[in-house]
Amino acid sequence: MSRAKGFISFEGIEGSGKSTQSRLFADYLLGKGHDVVHTAEPGGTDIGLKIRKLLLEPNNHMDALTELLLYYASRAQHVQEVILPAIRENKIVITDRFTDSTVAYQGYARGLSMDIIQSLNDIVLSDVTPDMTFLLDMDVREGLRRNRDAMKEDRFELETVAFHERVRQGFHEIAEKEPGRIKIIDASKSKEEVTGQIIKVFEQSWH
Ligand code: TMP
Repeated sequence: MSRAKGFISFEGIEGSGKSTQSRLFADYLLGKGHDVVHTAEPGGTDIGLKIRKLLLEPNNHMDALTELLLYYASRAQHVQEVILPAIRENKIVITDRFTDSTVAYQGYARGLSMDIIQSLNDIVLSDVTPDMTFLLDMDVREGLRRNRDAMKEDRFELETVAFHERVRQGFHEIAEKEPGRIKIIDASKSKEEVTGQIIKVFEQSWH
């Protein structure tokens, strides 16, 4: 059994295929003999899944600060219950969304203070930050169309196109600041092509 370890996140706009691609990537690593934990935010724990329901329920009129704190409540539980123990056991942890989503959605799109987000990171993360992040990038309208076709309609899918454009722009700005960690993947391609791009980038850059 290989003992490679690390923490890898998948990020992107609605409908960019993170859930599918992060699972396929976990399967690929398992096939290579790695010990892998696949998880997701918001969620990843029983408590996190209850918080997720509150966050995504379309009829909840939620204050932006309440929303931010609920994402961090879910994340605190996720880090302590799932991510840290797995990292300590030298497993590779793959998460479908993490803190870059908060910076993009609550920071860039909702307009909340980046200083508050940074302070919450300092409190909640216990130095747990992704070693590598795949940013699945594609046209916002096309992503929203994919989700509508899949009958996915949560509180965020009901936001305006302009909101989702700010999310995409936010992800681009994060990627510009951290080009070493964040790998941009063209998610407009077929499922197989996207998986191929992810594996290629991983094999070129993972040590
Ligand atoms: P999902 O549809 O990828 O499971 O994510 C649920 C929604 O939560 C998605 O619209 C993005 C949003 N989100 C945030 O706004 N901030 C966050 O920190 C995270 C993790 C997700």
